[in-house]
Amino acid sequence: SNLESLLDFFSDIKPSENAERILRDRYLLKDGEGKYLEHSWDDIARRVSRYIASAEILYNDDIEKIRDVEEKFYKLLKSRVFLPNSPTLFNSGKTLSRDVFQKNREDMSLEDYKKIFNSRNRHNMLSACFVVPLEDSMEGIFDAVKDAALIQKYGGGVGYDFSVLRPKESSIAGTGGKSSGPISFMHVFNTTASTIEQGGARRGAQMAVMRYDHPDVIDFINSKKNNDGKSVLNYFNISVNFDNPEEFLKKLENDEEIELTHPNSNIKRTIKAKELFDLIANNAWKSGDPGMLFLGRHNKYYALSDVTPVSATNPCGEEPLPPYGSCNLGSIDIAKVIDFVELGNPEGENNDLFKELIYWTARFLDDVIDINVYPLEKIDRVSKEQRFIGLGIMGLADAMYKKDLPYNSEEGRMFMAETLAQFAYYSHLASSELAKERGNFPLFEKSKYKNGFIPFSMLNDDYSENIRQWNNLIKEHFFGEGKKYKRNVQVNTVAPTGSISNLADTSSGIEPNFMLAYIRYMTDKEGNRVPLPYMNKILRDKLDGDLNSELEAEIIEKGSLQNIEGIPEEIKKVFVTSMDISGMDHLLAQNVIQSYLDASCSKTINLPKEATVDDIKEIYKKAMELNLKGITIYRDGSLETQVLTKAKKE
Ligand code: GDP
Ligand code: 5AD
Repeated sequence: SNLESLLDFFSDIKPSENAERILRDRYLLKDGEGKYLEHSWDDIARRVSRYIASAEILYNDDIEKIRDVEEKFYKLLKSRVFLPNSPTLFNSGKTLSRDVFQKNREDMSLEDYKKIFNSRNRHNMLSACFVVPLEDSMEGIFDAVKDAALIQKYGGGVGYDFSVLRPKESSIAGTGGKSSGPISFMHVFNTTASTIEQGGARRGAQMAVMRYDHPDVIDFINSKKNNDGKSVLNYFNISVNFDNPEEFLKKLENDEEIELTHPNSNIKRTIKAKELFDLIANNAWKSGDPGMLFLGRHNKYYALSDVTPVSATNPCGEEPLPPYGSCNLGSIDIAKVIDFVELGNPEGENNDLFKELIYWTARFLDDVIDINVYPLEKIDRVSKEQRFIGLGIMGLADAMYKKDLPYNSEEGRMFMAETLAQFAYYSHLASSELAKERGNFPLFEKSKYKNGFIPFSMLNDDYSENIRQWNNLIKEHFFGEGKKYKRNVQVNTVAPTGSISNLADTSSGIEPNFMLAYIRYMTDKEGNRVPLPYMNKILRDKLDGDLNSELEAEIIEKGSLQNIEGIPEEIKKVFVTSMDISGMDHLLAQNVIQSYLDASCSKTINLPKEATVDDIKEIYKKAMELNLKGITIYRDGSLETQVLTKAKKE
């Protein structure tokens, strides 16, 4: 079996009605009057693959080769085995002359590809993740407001470190006035985000980070206290940063105080470590915010932390970046791949196929960097000096259903660990391969890679025989050819894939399924509301003959199998949802997965409504004890508006 046969196999499977609806609503290109310029997934796959492949002119003047690359990219997309982040789908080739996208591939000339590449413009912004620095001055702050507005206008998410701003009531030299403080400025950013209608397709999305020892940290922790999901600072996720969580744990244990200070202010406060921690946990219990972020750990695994340390993450936490950094993401649906590849086994059959798949997806994302039109000159520079890409996976939960592996079990976690180790290894091989063909990222000589550096923590060798073998291969790579060749400073990121997993008809990112079945209401042409029942297709196949309309209704009603009589135990064990498993099982999954990611992953620790503040403290402590890079929880029902709620009974 080879890559072509895998891609051809899935190209023949049509997108579901749900995926088609999302395509129509948000992805098919329209003209200024709202008339569709595109009509199907195939149209998008052609546009995006041709647009991205035109970046190959920078490295290649053999027209046959460029056409072949386009064909490869086309099949990756058409099969929905790989999807780039939404901005790449929205904005590739947007506003460019349509003629060149309608040609047959065999008729494409080198001039045609050059024409595409050279007519790109500011509408063709392709990345999902940005970090914009703040400066402790009016000019600095409002420059950042403008920068962030431009990024969000084209569908990117932005993170900021608000610690930089002096606390409220600090004196301002020159005006004799007092600073209104970081939280007041967060409201400015929030309002800006809410004002931007992002081409109708995307809202604003931001992350605010603040150090745990900033004098206004208490206000920060309380800043979303009265949020019901759509009211206060609702275009922000917030996280408290602890550069050194081990030290904080000690202060907690010894009941010590923390000094809250800021370099540009005389204001000094103290708070007991315990009080600070209580406040964080209480608020998280109430509304999910704040999360905890450990930027010191992010920097430890970032090869340029001595040059440009990361200062925040994008809104969903998966991508740490330095000031003016950006990252474009793409995700491989491993629930599809697993039909062809064993996954996780160093001697597995068809591993070469997976390796090749990862090479081509990494090449796609590397091309995106070159053809991308960045909203700011400074972002262009940092992005090209370091060349961040975020190659990740989606469909983990569905892949595990297929293999009868419970998400909340030792064997399940072993599968996650071994698959991610394989994924990290192949991705870094691909980045080194690309470096041989195209050169290292420009700051390579200043990076830790050149002295031999592994950009993730790895699990212990004795975790499993497969892990021992992957670890050896990984070490061999980073102390061998990895010291000479690396195209991208960071390579692997697992995104939430909130939209694109729907396009791919697969489970999102590394999360368990939220529901196994539900009813979605659609409005038909006559304006009637039509119920569209949905059931996870792997479960449907598994239940097969046992599935009748009564059982289907019960699964929809309950959203889970756990309390349904007559379903065999083996099926119940495997087909778990995010609410069926404990917070600790969520966390342990995050732990093994994060051990093989140089950037990070988006993960929500879902907790039942009855979870207590102490439960949350236990989870946050465990995240500090294990080497996690951040943690965020959500207690069921704690917000009125929740992104995903169980299907309403109507
Ligand atoms: P998808 O590509 O649309 O499926 O996006 P993901 O759910 O995987 O999110 C990846 C990243 O894109 C997030 O971490 C954010 O940085 C950004 N992002 C996601 N959703 C939004 C949105 O609604 N608005 C904006 N501005 N950015 C978003
Ligand atoms: N830190 C990291 N991720 C967060 N999310 C929400 N708040 C935070 C935070 N403070 C993420 C969730 C989910 C997405 C909807 O947003 O984990 O992936």
